[in-house]
Amino acid sequence: MAKQKETIFVCSNCGNEFFKWSGNCSGCGEWNSLREVKNLGGGKNKRGRRQTKKGLTEVVNLAKLNLDKSKNDVIFSSNIPEFDRVLGKGIVRGSVVLFSGEPGVGKSTLLTQLVGKIGGLYVAGEESVAQIRLRVKRLALDEKNFDILATNSIEEIEETLARVKNVYKIMVVDSIQVMVTSDVVGVPGAMSQLRGSTFKLVEMAKKLGVAIFIVGHVTKEGNIAGPKLLEHMVDTVMYFEGEKRGNLRILRVNKNRFGSTDEVGVFSMGEKGLRQIRSDEINLVSKEGGGPGQVVTVVIEGGRPMMVEVQALVTESYATIPRRGFVGIDHNRGQMLVAIAQKGLNLPLYKCDVFVSVMGGIRVTDTGVDLAVIGAIVSSYKNKEIEKGSVLVGEVSLVGEVRQVSGMEKREKEAKGLGRKMLAIKNIRELG
Ligand code: TYD
Ligand code: MG
Repeated sequence: MAKQKETIFVCSNCGNEFFKWSGNCSGCGEWNSLREVKNLGGGKNKRGRRQTKKGLTEVVNLAKLNLDKSKNDVIFSSNIPEFDRVLGKGIVRGSVVLFSGEPGVGKSTLLTQLVGKIGGLYVAGEESVAQIRLRVKRLALDEKNFDILATNSIEEIEETLARVKNVYKIMVVDSIQVMVTSDVVGVPGAMSQLRGSTFKLVEMAKKLGVAIFIVGHVTKEGNIAGPKLLEHMVDTVMYFEGEKRGNLRILRVNKNRFGSTDEVGVFSMGEKGLRQIRSDEINLVSKEGGGPGQVVTVVIEGGRPMMVEVQALVTESYATIPRRGFVGIDHNRGQMLVAIAQKGLNLPLYKCDVFVSVMGGIRVTDTGVDLAVIGAIVSSYKNKEIEKGSVLVGEVSLVGEVRQVSGMEKREKEAKGLGRKMLAIKNIRELG
C-alpha cells in the first residue's frame, strides 16, 4: 500500500484537495489559493473515523421512540405571528435557517427582535457586545433574554454550547461570512469556510436541538454564490428584502423542509425596529394620484393581494445602445416586456431609454404585473395618463395577448375596496 503523504494542498477558496502544489486551483480556477496542510486522511475518512470513535449510530424504530421527550414542543412560536406564518407554524427545534438578505436591509434587527421575544444566544461576529446592547436598548427589548457571544470561531461556539448549562431554544449566528472553523483552511468568507462552518453548525443544531439562524449577506448584483451554496445544507432558507430607502420589508421563504414556501411576511422598518403590518395597511400607491407613466396594479405575493404602483420613464435616447433599468421586477422579464410593447404597439422604443420601477421597494414575482408595466411604458411614451382610478392586471404573452392570472376575484376585491376599477383588456393594442 502506498504510504500516505504527510501534507496535502487545500484550496482556500473551494476546499478541493491536491497532492501537489500548483499556481491555480483546477477545481475553481482561483490563483494562488493552495495552502499546505497536514494530511488528516482526507475529509471522508476523517468523518468516518470520528463516527467509529463514538460508536456506531443506532437504528431507531419510530414506534419505540420516546415520545414524551420529542413531544416537548417540537415546534415553538417565535412570538412574532408574521414570522411564524412565514415558517409554516413556527420554529422547529434543531432546525437550521439560512437568513439571507442584502447588507443593511434589517437582518440583524429582526433577529435581535426574535431573540428578544424568546431568549437565546446571539453570536456576534460583526458587532461588539456594546453595539448589540445599544440595539437591544433601542428596540426596547429585555436584556435578560440576551446571551451574547462575541466571536468568529465556530469551535468557540461549540465549546460554549457544551459548557453553558442553559439549553438555548434558538441561536443566531451573525454572520456566516465572518465565521471560521479550524477544520478547513481559508479566510473567512471563502467558500470552503462558508461550507465548513455551516456544516458544523448544522451538526450542533441536530445534536443539541437548538434552532440556529444563520445570517448570510447577499448582494443585489446577484453575487449570491456564497450563501447560495449553503442552501442545500440547511432546512429552511429565508430571504429578507426591501429597498433600504423605503421602510417596507418583505420576508419570504425559498426553501422549507417543514412547511410551504408561498407565504410572505410584511414588516415596516421604523425607529423602534421592525413592526409587522397587515395587508390592508399596505398601500404602495403614491398619494398625489396618477399621471403619465403611472399605473396601479394588484399583485399577489405569498397569497396576499397588494396594491402597488408601477412607474415608467421613457425618454429619447442619446446613447448608442439605449438604456434599460428595472427596479422591483426581474431584469429579463422587463426587457421582454419592452420588446412586446415595441412590437405590439408599434412604439420606437429601440431609440428610447426605458426605466421601470415598482414603488415601495418591493420585488414583484407575480406575472400579473406585466400589463401594468406595459401600460406605464405606453403612458410615459405618449405622455398621456391611463384612465384615472383604474387598475391593470394581467400576464402578457409574447404576441401581446393578455392572459388571466390566478386570484382575479381577490384582486378585484382589493381594487374595489380601495375605490378603483379593474380595466378589462384582452390585448395590449387596446392601450394604444
Ligand atoms: P441591520 O439590521 O443592521 O441590517 P443588516 O443586519 O441586514 O445588515 O439594519 C440596518 C439598518 O436599519 C440601519 O441602516 C439602521 C436601520 N434601523 C432602523 O431604522 N431602526 C431600528 O430600530 C434599527 C435597529 C435599525
Ligand atoms: Mg447585520
